[in-house]
Amino acid sequence: MSDPRKTAPLAAVILAAGKGTRMKSAQPKVLHRVAGRPLIGHVLAAARALDCARIGVVVAPDLPEVAAAVAPSMVVVQERQLGTGHAVLAARDFLAGFDGDVMVLYGDTPLLRAQTLARLVARRAGGAAPAIVVLGLRPADPGEYGRLVAGAGDSLEAIVEYRDATAAQRAIGLCNSGVLIADRALLFDLLSEVTNANAKGEYYLTDIVGLARKRGLSCAYVEAPADELLGVNSRADLAAAEAVMQDRLRADAMAGGATLIDPRSIYFNHDTRLGRDVTVGPNVVFGTGVVVGDGVEIRAYCHIEGTRIETGATVGPFARLRAGTVVGPGARIGNFVEVKNSILAQGATASHLSYLGDASVGVGTNIGAGTITCNYDGVVKSRTEIGAGAFIGSNTALVAPVKIGDGAIVGAGSVVTRDVPADSLTLARAPQVDRPGDAARYREQAKKDAGDKGKKKE
Ligand code: UD1
Ligand code: CA
Repeated sequence: MSDPRKTAPLAAVILAAGKGTRMKSAQPKVLHRVAGRPLIGHVLAAARALDCARIGVVVAPDLPEVAAAVAPSMVVVQERQLGTGHAVLAARDFLAGFDGDVMVLYGDTPLLRAQTLARLVARRAGGAAPAIVVLGLRPADPGEYGRLVAGAGDSLEAIVEYRDATAAQRAIGLCNSGVLIADRALLFDLLSEVTNANAKGEYYLTDIVGLARKRGLSCAYVEAPADELLGVNSRADLAAAEAVMQDRLRADAMAGGATLIDPRSIYFNHDTRLGRDVTVGPNVVFGTGVVVGDGVEIRAYCHIEGTRIETGATVGPFARLRAGTVVGPGARIGNFVEVKNSILAQGATASHLSYLGDASVGVGTNIGAGTITCNYDGVVKSRTEIGAGAFIGSNTALVAPVKIGDGAIVGAGSVVTRDVPADSLTLARAPQVDRPGDAARYREQAKKDAGDKGKKKE
């Protein structure tokens, strides 16, 4: 840290007890996802990056799914939703005995970055040590945000809620994000003075700034980029947040050394990890848990989740890789291949039209077009183990559980129901029958029969 002053120990309280009515959803608002992670998960990640001694999430009663989503962080129940100040008060017991600063965040702002929160923390420890520091923004349209009534420099006199603001106050472009930081003891002391004598009849957290000023305490604000503070209240907001997040993830991927041929058509999960010199073609979707090694090429129209793709492998176009898949170094998955819970070792190839489920494929083995691992008999799933240097002919069905030994060759069209020994040439299909001349004889006869029928009709 460049700041010589030591920052106080930090706790975070994330408010998430609002009803989220405008989402029109059976699911709590903060569990809706952006880049595959619940809204509350993004806020928690930002808070966790700050080395907080305690993190509490304020929720409405009876929301076990939210408690599960935020674990191991604690939930604090706000019995009735009487306003943001009331919500913070619900965390009073949770923070009892904590000696330090409390940062208040809202659970529906998934775009907030940890580095912005770090600036807020630094300002608390910085010049004149303001008692409260608030994160402000200047949105293109200030709408119904609370307004920050600023004084000289970065000092703050009050926060006025839109509904309670005068016309002159509504003309202020500097808005309240809701995020603030203050010493714990002072925060709860000020909150105990907050009343609900306002337009909404709610206990406003924002009133603590005016109350602190009355005591002669200084307050300050730090400005954050407006796009970090987009609050999700509706499905349209959710889509807007997703768009911003995807642009960030695309920019991060490119900054990390990946080539994205058409960035706007590529969708990442928040946890996607790409190595260097990875090339991703157009219209690729990454689900949760994908790790891609250096020099990998992912061609157009792939859908990939729960997969590790190792150095120099090639995937797609039109491949679907599902959970539990490992594509080994230099391996190749081609078009219309689906892989689930399977490991392809170094240099293995499945180039066309296959399903590999619950399988292992050895080093350098070739899986022919149309090969299917029949892993499910309607009751249980079974494994297919294919050794190294094997060759599975086209249109082979491998009925699991089954093992194919190293170096084995399985003839095209086989239905393999027993283990195949190493280096065996195995054919498991009806033998071919040739009857020379029969085709010509058949045609002759067919023509004759057609002629006879025609005569009968006349
Ligand atoms: C709040 C701010 C406003 C700011 C805006 C930024 C207040 C009084 N106003 O207004 O200055 O510009 O956010 O988006 O704080 N919540 C609870 N319990 C409650 C009420 C709310 O947990 O009883 C939670 C909500 O789930 C939400 C957050 O607090 O995450 C904000 O509440 P909301 O009612 O949306 O506040 P705004 O009216 O948007
Ligand atoms: Ca809001």
